[in-house]
Amino acid sequence: MNQLGLGIAITGSGSATPEVALDNHQLERMVETSDEWITARTGIRERHLVDAQGCLSAIASTAAQKAIAMAGIAPTDLDLIILATSTPDDLFGTATQIQHLLGAPQAVSFDMTAACSGFVFGMVTAAQFIRTGVYQNVLLIGADILSRWVDWTDRGTCILFGDGAGAIVMQVNESDRFLGFELRSDGTLNKSLQLAFKAQTRELVEGVTVSQGNYQPISMNGKEIYRFAVQKVPEVIEKALFRANLSTDEVDWLLLHQANQRILDAVAQRLNIPAEKVLSNLAHYGNTSAASIPLALDEAVRAGQIQSGDVIAAAGFGAGLTWGATIFQWGR
Ligand code: COA
Repeated sequence: MNQLGLGIAITGSGSATPEVALDNHQLERMVETSDEWITARTGIRERHLVDAQGCLSAIASTAAQKAIAMAGIAPTDLDLIILATSTPDDLFGTATQIQHLLGAPQAVSFDMTAACSGFVFGMVTAAQFIRTGVYQNVLLIGADILSRWVDWTDRGTCILFGDGAGAIVMQVNESDRFLGFELRSDGTLNKSLQLAFKAQTRELVEGVTVSQGNYQPISMNGKEIYRFAVQKVPEVIEKALFRANLSTDEVDWLLLHQANQRILDAVAQRLNIPAEKVLSNLAHYGNTSAASIPLALDEAVRAGQIQSGDVIAAAGFGAGLTWGATIFQWGR
């Protein structure tokens, strides 16, 4: 073990996506775009969308139930539930609704927001509680319904995003499988990717005003985000691997936030990691923000691609700006 403290294992995964999909040809009827353009520039072919009857707590709970079942524990064993999301059903927090739906009354539950890096930031947060012996069984969910906040008339962004949820169970373990991490933030580039609140002044009584308004749809400088991801993600993975005392050759799977196939390819190329080690499912889901990493992880585990003991380098990046990497081995 290269860390002080107790060992950590990732023992279960689960995911859930809405049934309804919107493909590139359907997008052609909404904005001036083409299947060829979207596929060539992003690799995305379709995205799944939650309808008006659906909600974040429902898809998140479905993903969580599968992860708990795979880990072989009961919901009542959970000590902590962390929901990484930028699109809660309730701005006061949605994790407690999930706690209730799962039947996990002992679990302390809270939301955390780090946009598309939310799952990686959540893994590191969960790990601190386990390392220090505070909690033994932690459920981490990454879930987002970005379709709520996409401007469906903006062809520069609406082609990219989809909805989904993924979850893992992290547990205290004799052997340490959580090998290293590196997290970074840079607020100077905040305006490059935003889902910002726009205030309107309301006067309550003379001389006393408050700001009331609404969140505005996602706005993005695509080129700037692209450059940021391709430059910063390899750096943070190399740093996390250094902390784990591993080289890129020892990585079995590169598990990047599923934003754009060109970003995945460029990062892998810079790290000299061959394409067959790069997990990718974005053709079917688009960018599902905090859900993308656990969704791709769960699909690869259930398909038998990822085996117990495999070394995974996961990296998230996105709004904030935030980015970070974790290095871990699958299973006990
Ligand atoms: N369909 C057709 N044409 C489009 C289009 C679309 N959906 N969106 C933009 N275009 C046009 C532009 O208007 C521009 O036309 P012009 O040359 O006549 O001005 C041209 O295509 C090139 O646009 P540009 O924005 O330079 O394209 P790009 O190669 O940078 O690709 C992205 C755009 C969004 C696919 C790319 O920048 C990207 O993926 N960035 C990262 C975004 C991301 O991952 N965000 C989330 C991070 S968590």
